[in-house]
Amino acid sequence: MKTDRRTPIEIDKTLFQKMGYELIDKIAEFINTIDKKTVTTSKSNLEISELIGNSPLPENGSSPDELLARTTDILMENSLLNGHPKFMGYITSSPTPIGALADLLAATINPNVGAQILSPVATEIEKQTIQWLAEFIGVSPNYGGILVSGGNMANFTGFLAARTAKAPKEIKEKGISNTSNQLTVYCSQTTHTWIEKAVVLFGLGTDSIRWIPADDQNKMNINLLEKTIKEDLEKGCTPMIIAGTAGDVSTGAVDNLKEIATISKKYDIWFHIDGAYGVPAAVVPKYKSLFDGIEEADSIALDPHKWLYSPLEAGCTLVKNPQHLIDTFSSHPEYYNFSNTDHNYYEFGLQNSRGFRALKVWLALKQIGKNGYIQMINEDIDLAKMLFDKSDNHSELEAVSHSLSIATFRYVPEENLSDEYLNKLNEELLNSLQVGGELFVSNAVIKNKYCLRACIVNFRTSEKDIEEMIEIIVREGKKLYKSI
Ligand SMILES: Cc1ncc(COP(=O)(O)O)c(C=O)c1O
Repeated sequence: MKTDRRTPIEIDKTLFQKMGYELIDKIAEFINTIDKKTVTTSKSNLEISELIGNSPLPENGSSPDELLARTTDILMENSLLNGHPKFMGYITSSPTPIGALADLLAATINPNVGAQILSPVATEIEKQTIQWLAEFIGVSPNYGGILVSGGNMANFTGFLAARTAKAPKEIKEKGISNTSNQLTVYCSQTTHTWIEKAVVLFGLGTDSIRWIPADDQNKMNINLLEKTIKEDLEKGCTPMIIAGTAGDVSTGAVDNLKEIATISKKYDIWFHIDGAYGVPAAVVPKYKSLFDGIEEADSIALDPHKWLYSPLEAGCTLVKNPQHLIDTFSSHPEYYNFSNTDHNYYEFGLQNSRGFRALKVWLALKQIGKNGYIQMINEDIDLAKMLFDKSDNHSELEAVSHSLSIATFRYVPEENLSDEYLNKLNEELLNSLQVGGELFVSNAVIKNKYCLRACIVNFRTSEKDIEEMIEIIVREGKKLYKSI
């Protein structure tokens, strides 16, 4: 019998070590010099596709060391670097260095964290991570939950638990079209697009959303929330979920969670919080009161890949009574022999086979500790405030908003320019900044003003970066003002 099967997939130990050492050396250098690089590539998409090679599917393989070395160089030299200190776009953090090593280790062991028997250590690590995240944001450690790929999935998971808990019980068998009363959904008009995806995907339809107007601080108007619920009840609707937001995507506003909790209780509606971005700030003692009411939430979405600086992808859903997740997602096919284990993650969410994303989150929590996070999150907020104040004091900038670690502002070269012109100017300015490679911000439209928006979930950004950023923006703004 042959015992020496040779496959094109294995890499022998010596070569693997050589490749690994070279890769780690390059990664260490990359991280160490990231602030000297441009934030993004100047190459066109066509040039990049040529760089990776427009070849058909390889018929035969090639040597792994050359392949890895070349791919590493292409990626390091041509990517957008969200680990750069002047990256402040959207809500994508600089990734924890330990997360890079964690992903390598997780892929090496490759546990399938859908079932405990397939992932004995990884399941315990994920359980502990979930408990720590609950503790981190200040809710009861009895919350349970699951790690998912990001904010959309974390919110969907909470939404589905709400549907199981609050829709008529026969919905599981008969489907949503057999419910006589329309299920309705309440959220502020500033809510992230996940909610539209959720109502489309999970059968409620976009007409089920009641977009509650926000006040001038971008928080949900609670009087209008209650009025809308009453009107719906009179029409015979079944209010299912109120989704409050803790850190809205455009401005970082945190809804009045305490008041939403009171209304949810009064009308027996599921209280969900989309804290994908902002809820980690509840760990900072001086901001904790902003999140009062959080401990009443039936479900909470929070993304380690945003303000816990985890490498993509890592989101999390926490549920006050995790049985709602099991009621929603559990099934027991005959091909699963998992009955001797007590915590099988496939019963808590949408996936069955699941990767070990908990490792990077867990290792970072252990390496950095709660106090390390308090320091970094607090500093991010201070930097956003500094940016707001500097814009406010600058004769050619208008500061528009500041909340948590998001500041919005716009370039206003002189007085008496129309909003229409300023919107065009700032949009063009954003486009030129985004390809320029010196910094990366994104945009927000606030009360019809097209603004530049910096979201600092970046432990590498410093005061010097904020000073330099203002200079760059004003310099580029001046150039454009002359030309359009
Ligand atoms: C408040 C909020 N909710 C949900 C999401 C969606 O998160 P993801 O892009 O990780 O799916 C975002 C993304 O920025 C967000 O800011």
